[in-house]
Amino acid sequence: MINNIAIVGMQWGDEGKGKIVDLLSKKSNYIVRYQGGNNAGHTIVIDKKKTILHLIPSGILHDKTICIIGDGVVVSPEFLIEEIKNINKSNISIKNRLFLSHNCTIILPYHIFIDRAREKFQGKSSIGTTEKGIGPAYEDQVARRGLRIGDLKYPNYFSKKLKEISIYYNSQLINLYNQEAIDYNFILENILKYKKQILEITTDTSSILINAKKKNKKIIFEGAQGSLLDIHHGTYPYVTSSNTTVSGIFSGTGLGPFKLDYVLGITKAYSTRVGSGPFPTELFNDIGNHFFKKGNEIGSTTGRRRRTGWIDLVLLSQSIQINSVNGLCLTKIDILDELEEIKVCIGYQSIDNKKITNIPCSICDWEKLVPIYKTLSGWKSSTLGINKFQHLPEEAKNFVYFIEKFTKISIDIISTGPDRNHTIILRNIF
Ligand code: GDP
Ligand code: IMO
Ligand code: MG
Repeated sequence: MINNIAIVGMQWGDEGKGKIVDLLSKKSNYIVRYQGGNNAGHTIVIDKKKTILHLIPSGILHDKTICIIGDGVVVSPEFLIEEIKNINKSNISIKNRLFLSHNCTIILPYHIFIDRAREKFQGKSSIGTTEKGIGPAYEDQVARRGLRIGDLKYPNYFSKKLKEISIYYNSQLINLYNQEAIDYNFILENILKYKKQILEITTDTSSILINAKKKNKKIIFEGAQGSLLDIHHGTYPYVTSSNTTVSGIFSGTGLGPFKLDYVLGITKAYSTRVGSGPFPTELFNDIGNHFFKKGNEIGSTTGRRRRTGWIDLVLLSQSIQINSVNGLCLTKIDILDELEEIKVCIGYQSIDNKKITNIPCSICDWEKLVPIYKTLSGWKSSTLGINKFQHLPEEAKNFVYFIEKFTKISIDIISTGPDRNHTIILRNIF
């Protein structure tokens, strides 16, 4: 019996995780975010109404689910309260349904200012972060300098620690980045405005989850970002600052090392990336432009244009391995509908024609990669909204079979449009 599943992005994020988490939440009791922060943007479309969630788990739109923001997430109190206000406007209540871990590291305005200042300072070699303060907040966490949500209960400790942090960051802002210092009192007063509301939803979320597991409740672990942005396994240094792979679940929930019943890897039928960094199959032609336009490839968090390219089965295979993926969900196949031919990357060679078998480590090696493609026939008809596999054109089925054969993993869900209902379920997971 499957009681818990992990939903993880296989590429550089924005694979359509939010849509699938929402879809599977119908049969789930708990939905858990375990890493990242409001750098995520997860889109759910129900009857043409679009909701974008950044911190709140994507199961919140089903009124019986319990949503958890686990220990490994970095949280801006101000942002979270704003997001709650927004979903309240759509008549969605979070009362007794949304719980925040007391162990979450707080994103302070200092983190956001430093993130921005560094990006500006680095110019062309910048990471292209979301400028939400994610990296600096995680840095504080591992440097044992951070403030945590539970610390809000202790005003004296909180203000003393905040003072120390303000000295640390103001010296960087002034001396390294030629910026103005940020007034510590202003930050303290601002954060205290949200204290009451934040503490109302704060608790020991790991106990909730341990109990849920004992009772065999159904749990979805909702990944943010994608495996190629993982701090260890991604295209370093062009990555985010958390473990975006399933390993983040074990450190980011307080559940310890347990057996995941099923890991669902989400991949688009092509590739996108927002921000800088390696992207071997990137396209700079009309087809890339078609993916951008038809796929509406604009970042849900920052509004930036996403870079686009062909699907990369070499990188997909790596993501499958590091996440112990059991099944795949292939999203956005409808974006390929008009194409005469579809290319899939099946290997790499170096610019001097040497075959490359290992995925590079150093950023300098990535630049030498030339993708090797297999060309498949396009289907040139609409797949939008199809919800039965047998109704797909033969060429679309062949595309699915090719990916399955190459990766040796079954495609269990196919997404044919943004709406909850635009989905082909090939295997009932829960
Ligand atoms: P996430 O971060 O992985 O949750 O993905 P995002 O929400 O950032 O980006 C995915 C975008 O694709 C959203 O605008 C979704 O509404 C949309 N989407 C998801 N699945 C499909 C699909 O199968 N077809 C189309 N056309 N759009 C989709
Ligand atoms: P979801 O959950 C796509 C990217 C940024 C940047 C890098 C580091 O919606 O898939 P950060 O602000 O995290 O320090 O930025 O990571 N990035 C994402 N790209 N989808 C996301 O989340 C992302 N979250 C961060 O663009 O390249
Ligand atoms: Mg997104």
